[in-house]
Formats: sequence, structure tokens, C-alpha cells
Amino acid sequence: MNTEEMAAFCKKKGFVYPNSEIYGGMAGFFDYGPLGAELKNNIKAQWWNAHVHQRADIVGIDGAIITSPKTWVASGHASSFTDAIIECAKNHKTRADHLIEDKLKMDTAGLPLKQIDVIIRNNKLKCDKCNSPFKESTGFNLMFKTTVGPEGTAESYLRPETAQLIFADFKNVIDTTRVKLPFGIAQTGKAFRNEISPRDFLFRCREFEQMEIEYFTHPNHANTCPYLHEVETYEFIVLSAEMQEKKLMPKKMTAKEALDKKIMRTQWHAYWLAYEHKWLTSLGISPENLRLRQHLDEEKSHYALDTWDIEYRFPMGWKELQGMANRTDFDLQQHIKHSGKDLSYYDEETKTKVVPHVVVEPSQGVERLFLALMFEAYEYDKERDNVVLKLHPKLAPYKAAVFPLVSNKPELVKKAKEVHTELAEEINCFYDEKGSIGRRYSRQDEIGTPACITIDFQSLDDGTVTIRERDTTHQARVKTDELHREISRIMKNDRSLFTKKKH
Ligand code: GAP
Repeated sequence: MNTEEMAAFCKKKGFVYPNSEIYGGMAGFFDYGPLGAELKNNIKAQWWNAHVHQRADIVGIDGAIITSPKTWVASGHASSFTDAIIECAKNHKTRADHLIEDKLKMDTAGLPLKQIDVIIRNNKLKCDKCNSPFKESTGFNLMFKTTVGPEGTAESYLRPETAQLIFADFKNVIDTTRVKLPFGIAQTGKAFRNEISPRDFLFRCREFEQMEIEYFTHPNHANTCPYLHEVETYEFIVLSAEMQEKKLMPKKMTAKEALDKKIMRTQWHAYWLAYEHKWLTSLGISPENLRLRQHLDEEKSHYALDTWDIEYRFPMGWKELQGMANRTDFDLQQHIKHSGKDLSYYDEETKTKVVPHVVVEPSQGVERLFLALMFEAYEYDKERDNVVLKLHPKLAPYKAAVFPLVSNKPELVKKAKEVHTELAEEINCFYDEKGSIGRRYSRQDEIGTPACITIDFQSLDDGTVTIRERDTTHQARVKTDELHREISRIMKNDRSLFTKKKH
């Protein structure tokens, strides 16, 4: 299935709609339908749970979308958050690196503007729309401008990343919580980028959401991770900068091997790459579809000591799902310089003030993960002649659906509604009495509902109901008062209830 087909499926089933479709649409913007809104919320809740609630060393904040424009001057976004744009003689604009990638199938990561122009000139690339030649490329700032207040003179920007709010609030967090280095500050929320050529459905949009952490350590402990032992034997596929330069194939290795061979430079990077990889696979992403790719020197941001991306094998190729840069103390130092405020941390052990280092910034886009999860889950089942969306139960929009076997028996309908009402107090649960039972199962399979509960005549006699499992169609009979327990098991992907019984 390609990206266009996925976009069509998402629209048809109410996951994602093109934005303002009735007015001709807005490229790069999307609206989430009833099922997409649930899935997106579930992804964010799982992320928050695994990165904030389950970790004693990370606290979360929720910063504003519009913030002082000085923030973006300090961070460097105002001057250098640009992509190369190229204009033809008839003023059609396109993104220069995408033009080269599409036409010449060349990787342009990190190429400077001048080199991009040389490639376009030497290969005589012309405008797709009018076949005229291109002028020199220029930098196009991706931040959306806005004005604040009634005069309309105070300019600001919609934030292009959530990360800077974490740095701007760093002092407030250390003053108001009891965090001790090493610790992280997490944030999820909207980010906006005026992408020159938004494309590939949710992969590159102009409005999206990020889930980011700035993980701070003492500068002297920027390579000592106390949690490394938890992941040392964890395996992932690695493509280092050196392997890319030597045109070698990616290699499976453990976190320890990556460190021992100095492929990964710091324990923190190895630890966090493993932590994130593990989290992604816990959501149902196959490890074969994930690889860790180190940025080439020319590709790295100026502030980054080392950057790795977790890439996913999308239908359009291996693409960044999550970035993980070592930003050192660059951002805090910039904000110290531009605000004139003391953003240091008092180290009680050494009785000195230090400016902590961000040893990793795990930065993940919700939309890209949403898309990857949909590709992983989508399966056409020939036997059922139907799509089965095998989302991890904890991500599924509806955790269960409740049906009366038939709708013309009031006593079955009454009982089914009672069961639904009770379950709905704890989980998002769907009630359906329309159509044949087979059709109702199919509708739930297509949208990923892991369990379908049917109330039949036996239910009225002995208080039991059937649960049918999405992936195998196996069924089991349970007492209604055991439903909550069984559904919680299914949420943990425990399918033991169904292993011996077949429909
Ligand atoms: N604070 C670091 C930062 O923002 P980034 O690599 O520019 O780094 C981080 O973005 C993540 O945000 C990416 O890995 C991707 O998942 C997501 N992202 C970035 N631009 C996006 C876009 N235009 N559309 C959808 N997701 C995007």
C-alpha cells in the first residue's frame, strides 16, 4: 500500500481528512476524524506515560504556541531555520533539495546552497510546470509569522518546535520542582512550519505535533549513563556515518557493541536510542522496519555534537521518524546570552553552578508515528476479504464493541446496552446493532477494535457473553463480571483467553 492509498483509507474510515476540503483544501494541513482523534490521543497518552509518568527523572510542561520572538532569535531559528527554495524564470517555486532527490535520486542531506545550485545547473534541471530554467536558490525561513495585540505591529511566530519552550522555562522548572541532574523535561504539542513542499500525506505537513524531551546532565557526566545496563544487550539495526561514507550496509548490533566499537559516542545516546526503539516496538512497530542512522557531518545542525535519527521504512523509503541530537549547552547558553538571566544549575555536591548539557533531545513527530503505525497495522485478510487493522490494543480507537446478537429481541438489546454502559465508564467502547453480526465484526476489524462482545440467548440464561478477538477471530465465553479483567488483559496484548478456542 502506498501513501496515497493510505490517505484514501484514512479518509474513508474517518481517521484523517484533508483540511478545508469544501473550500478546495490547504496543502500541508489535515483534520483528524473521530477515529484519528482517538488514535492520536492514544499515541500521545502512551508517549507521556512511558516518558513522564513511568520515569522519576523526567517532568513535563506545556508551553505556549506563541512566545517572545526573542526566543527564536536566541535559538537561531529567526536567522537560519531555512530550506533552499528555487524559482524558475516564470516564478514557480519549489524546494531545491526535493527537486534533486526526485529527479536525480540523489541524497542531498546537508548540502550547502551553492552545491545545490551547481547540481541543478550541471544536470540542466528544468521547472516541471513550465520547463523553464531555474534562478539561483535562496534560503526560505520556515517560521509562520503572526502579530500579537490590536495594533498589529508586534510580530511573533508560531513555534516551529516545542523544544525552545523547555529551555525558556528551564529556570522555572528547576526552581519549582525537585529535579536533580541528570533529568529531562518533556513536552508535547503543536508545531508549525511553512514547508515549501509539504508531501507524503502526514509525513511532511505544515501543522503537526511534536513529543520532545530535553535531557540534561552535568557537563562532567555527559558520557556516564546510570541506566545503560538496562539496554546493553538490546539489539537494533545501525547505519553509522562511516558506514554511509563507505557505502556499507546497515548492521544489526547491540547497544554495547555500538559503544565498544565507538560507533555511538556517548552512553547517553546508546541508552536513549535503545529506549526509544524499545518503546516504538512496544507499540507494534516491527524492528525490521526501524534503523538508527547517524547524521553525516555536513548534515548535522551547527550546534549538534552528534545526531542520530530513528528511521522507519515507509513505502517511499527509509525516512526520519524521530531525531536525537546531542545539543550540548548550546541552547541554554544562547538564552543566557540573549535574556541576560542566570540559567545555571546549582550542583550541591560540588557547590558550584553549572550550565547543564543536553546529551540527547529525543524529538518525535506525532503525525509520522501515526502514519508508521497505520502502515504497520494495515493488513488485507484474503480469507475475510476485508481489511484488518492490527493496531496495538492500547492504541486502538475503540477498545471493544458490544453487540446484541440480533436487534429485534428487546431483551438482548437491553442487556447489550447495559454491558456497553458499564464498560464505557472505563474504556472507549462502541455499541452497534445494525446489520448482520458478520458485517458488524468486519466493520470493527477495519478500524482496529481488538475485541467484539456479543450478547446472545445464552447470556440471558447464564450471564456469559462471547468475546471475539480481532486478529484471529477466535472466540471465548466469559462471565459479564469478568469482562473488565479480560479487556485489561487484551489491552496488554495478552491473548491467552483465545488460544484454545476457535469460532
Ligand atoms: N527540536 C528538534 C526538532 O524539532 P526536527 O528534526 O526538525 O527536530 C523533530 O523535528 C521531529 O518532528 C521529526 O523527527 C519529525 O518526526 C517531526 N517533524 C518535523 N517536521 C515535520 C513536518 N513538517 N511534518 C511532520 N512532522 C515533522
